[in-house]
Amino acid sequence: MSHLFGLGWLFILLTIANIEAQKKPAINISSKCLGNVMRVDVGPLGGNLLEVAVVVNNSDILLTSSLASQCGFSMTIDQLGNAMIYASLQNCFAQNVEDEAFTTTLNLRLHGNQMGEDELYQVAETCHYPAWASREIVCDRNYMEVSVKRAVPDDYVLPEHPVSGTNSKFGDPRRAAEKQPIDAGFRITTLVFFTPEERIMKVTEAQSRGYGIANTPSRLVLRSSKTAPETYTQNVAGIPMTVLKTSTIFEKKWLATQIDAAAACPILEGSVALTPNTISWYLPRHIDPLISSQQFKLLEVHMGINGQRLDTAEMAARRYAITVNDVHIIVEIPVGAVGGYFKSHVQDNQYFTSYTIEPMLELLWTEDATHEDTKYKVLLPITTPLLSQPPQVIDNTLPEEQIFKVMIGPFASDVTLVNITFPSEVLSVGDCNVRGFNIQEHRSPNSSFKVITLQVPFTDRVVLQMREMGITVYSLHLTFGLLVLPEFAPFSLTAYLEAKLADIVPPSVSGGCDYTNFYVLVKYGTQGFDFQTIVGKRMLTSGLAQQYGFMENRTHFSFVVPFSAPDVMFEAVEASSIRTRLDVVLKNPETNKNLKEFSLACNFHSTLTECFPNGTMTALAVKLESVPSLNPSQLTLRDPTCGPSYSDGRYAYFVFSGNSCGTTRKFLPNFMLYENEISLPDELEPKRVKTDEAEYELKVSCYYDINTTHAVAFHTRPRRSEPYAENAKGELQVAMRLALDDSYSVFHSVEENPIAKYLQQPLYFEVELMRSTNPKVSLELENCWATQNDDRTSQPRWNLIINGCVNPVDPYQVVFHPVWADARVQYPSHFKRFEVQMFAFAEDQDNLSHQLFVHCDVVICDARNPLNGVCNGQCSNQGNKLKGQRRAVPDMQSFKHVSSRPILIN
Ligand SMILES: *[C@@H]1O[C@H](CO)[C@@H](O)[C@H](O)[C@H]1NC(C)=O
Ligand SMILES: *[C@@H]1O[C@H](CO)[C@@H](O)[C@H](O)[C@H]1NC(C)=O
Ligand SMILES: *[C@@H]1O[C@H](CO)[C@@H](O)[C@H](O)[C@H]1NC(C)=O
Ligand SMILES: *[C@@H]1O[C@H](CO)[C@@H](O)[C@H](O)[C@H]1NC(C)=O
Ligand SMILES: *[C@@H]1O[C@H](CO)[C@@H](O)[C@H](O)[C@H]1NC(C)=O
Ligand SMILES: *[C@@H]1O[C@H](CO)[C@@H](O)[C@H](O)[C@H]1NC(C)=O
Ligand SMILES: *[C@@H]1O[C@H](CO)[C@@H](O)[C@H](O)[C@H]1NC(C)=O
Repeated sequence: MSHLFGLGWLFILLTIANIEAQKKPAINISSKCLGNVMRVDVGPLGGNLLEVAVVVNNSDILLTSSLASQCGFSMTIDQLGNAMIYASLQNCFAQNVEDEAFTTTLNLRLHGNQMGEDELYQVAETCHYPAWASREIVCDRNYMEVSVKRAVPDDYVLPEHPVSGTNSKFGDPRRAAEKQPIDAGFRITTLVFFTPEERIMKVTEAQSRGYGIANTPSRLVLRSSKTAPETYTQNVAGIPMTVLKTSTIFEKKWLATQIDAAAACPILEGSVALTPNTISWYLPRHIDPLISSQQFKLLEVHMGINGQRLDTAEMAARRYAITVNDVHIIVEIPVGAVGGYFKSHVQDNQYFTSYTIEPMLELLWTEDATHEDTKYKVLLPITTPLLSQPPQVIDNTLPEEQIFKVMIGPFASDVTLVNITFPSEVLSVGDCNVRGFNIQEHRSPNSSFKVITLQVPFTDRVVLQMREMGITVYSLHLTFGLLVLPEFAPFSLTAYLEAKLADIVPPSVSGGCDYTNFYVLVKYGTQGFDFQTIVGKRMLTSGLAQQYGFMENRTHFSFVVPFSAPDVMFEAVEASSIRTRLDVVLKNPETNKNLKEFSLACNFHSTLTECFPNGTMTALAVKLESVPSLNPSQLTLRDPTCGPSYSDGRYAYFVFSGNSCGTTRKFLPNFMLYENEISLPDELEPKRVKTDEAEYELKVSCYYDINTTHAVAFHTRPRRSEPYAENAKGELQVAMRLALDDSYSVFHSVEENPIAKYLQQPLYFEVELMRSTNPKVSLELENCWATQNDDRTSQPRWNLIINGCVNPVDPYQVVFHPVWADARVQYPSHFKRFEVQMFAFAEDQDNLSHQLFVHCDVVICDARNPLNGVCNGQCSNQGNKLKGQRRAVPDMQSFKHVSSRPILIN
């Protein structure tokens, strides 16, 4: 039974309602018995305030700090907000069953920081502790307690009044052996404190001054705050100790008896030596105030943490050491060892830590003289001074990864990152993680410190970029907003990160040509660009590279492709040159995408046609890119039997002479023109009609200077170009006139210029070979056509006569009029007459062109040597087949052009 000596004035009584209805604890609460004390762990409190009340007779008694030290309670809260409540088993409120079972019931009330309901938890623990030593001393953080067996030597009875000024009987070894229990009839009346002077107090006065005094079934319990006035300080083996020394006087009727009880507890200052790495705690081996003689045996020494004894293996694992010498018991603990904790502190935005650990020493000794044993227990919370520990910013960025990686720390576990301030914005940790900054805490298993890592991609808008000379500088300013919990002490850490990255440049291609080769230069890009080189349609293998004179250095490679190489495309054949193109592609082998496409087009001078004085002509036909399906070996000259004398997949080489293979010859003033064409023979032609491919036709021309008869030029023309005609030069030998009617007797005069006619009005043309008196010569009209202006080659053009025949598609067909000899016409074969209805070219729907020119190609034939074609005087338009016939008019004697003067439309 606890004896509560009217301490009600210290208590605040609280009414408890409905504790049973409490919800499940949101925090952990556990209790354990640790010898003559018990411990209740509560937490983490998470910033809540904890109020502890003791439950007695269904009433709450709030534990204030003075009540706690008087009644045997203490409390400590660690850096994470976990509370540990220690209670002496013999606390004022324990339900004591025969000094063997002790039940303590606590009500724990959590006050939230914010508005909200308080949470109330009840914890009750019963500890069994039957094996009390004669004397048990507990030094807790705020109180010292001594519990002694309530017994006195049987012959020892106090006189009526206590004897003041003597301390002679205290610890007298002569009265050791035969002690008798003091029976329940004795009441405590008076306390004598030795400070060391005697102070005598009535029990009620002592209690009101904060001393705890209790009579249990078999023991006397005295308790004092460590700072109580009736304690004194004594230096014991160099260690300052607070000493409580008392005699308690019991009275029963006229009888009185007395029990001496003392406690001595080390004072922290003076007990502990600190180095940066080690905490050393010295406790006197022989605690003089408690031991009356030198003869005592130290039977047991135990060490523990937070009130809990540890075995030697556990101590070794934690690198704790305990040594006992003649004078001291020394406990050594590495700073940072398991069992303690680091707490963070902030002063002027500087970060500090302290290390706290609460070691315990338990001693058991026995005094030889009395054979009385003492259990001595000290709980000594030790906190190091503040250790400056400036957090580091470690930049682990690898620029190639394009992510800033930064690590800050170390921090004790009570530090939390709240936000990060960037120049442009402030982001909470949650925002950062949503943004992909990947904030993580890391702690190595055996360290109490943590580091915080953060990753910010270079692409994020908080990263600044600056480009200079092919290098991009990425920079990041950030300020970490940190808090120390649970007191919410803010501090910050600023960092500046910078990373440089050379710009990524893809490979590039350049090149040029001279008169025989393409030169290609490839510049490698920045690292990481793997590529294949395709030349034309082929991969540049090492074999091909060798063939093309591949050279390289660290930054470039080059190769040379001759214009005749198979990888070169022929685009077009032009006068005296071939337009060629080389394609170079740099391809990413993984994605198969083109990194770079490069085309180089060059004209290479080339003599495709050669004309030799002996009449031999040669022509080289090349396969053009626009006719991919062409097989050069199938090409022929006009005469389909004249194939190439050499050909391969890209070329066909023809050798022919002026009088073979359908070559035509034309007389021009001072020149002779031989012409032929290279094309696919007709029977192969239709196959290509279906495709979009161009037709292949290469016109081969040789001009022979009549004076010297040597080759002066060659000429090619695409088949679909406008009709080609040389303008006749020299004096006019052929004249064209316009008669007024079909009698061809009156003509429009030369002065009458232009001539005006109505639409549909017939035009009567006459063409005459002038100044010729040779009756064997005849004039034939090969082609006649009308144009809108005086340029005979201009477009549009309307054909009137084709190869001596009327244009079959002309709705108003030309009418030929025969020529008879008369006064004006001496040789009818020198004349040709035809009639055309006046028409107009429409410039557009509403406007007609107002003038018209008529032109003719005229052939002068030798009547003695009639040949086929125009010179045989017949229309040679059989089958209307231009291509096959191709104006095959060999040995024409002469070839002239004539044009009308303008004819206006009225
Ligand atoms: C209670 O303690 C257990 C184990 O120590 C821990 O896993 C759990 O998170 C704690 N619960 C609370 C609410 O702190
Ligand atoms: C509790 O109740 C018991 C019995 O009713 C009484 O003796 C004791 O004084 C009460 N304790 C307190 C603290 O009120
Ligand atoms: C943590 O453990 C590792 C490996 O066991 C050890 O190398 C290191 O020294 C330990 N660190 C501390 C602070 O004990
Ligand atoms: C960032 O967090 C710190 C705590 O370290 C706090 O003091 C500050 O007000 C916060 N800033 C913003 C903008 O929330
Ligand atoms: C590599 O070759 C290129 C082209 O010939 C040249 O411009 C460049 O300076 C060369 N580089 C080195 C490092 O020799
Ligand atoms: C004509 O001359 C060329 C070049 O001199 C020669 O190759 C060729 O054989 C000659 N042809 C004839 C038929 O003599
Ligand atoms: C050819 O000779 C004639 C007469 O001698 C001359 O007028 C003409 O210019 C010469 N032609 C060429 C192309 O030399």
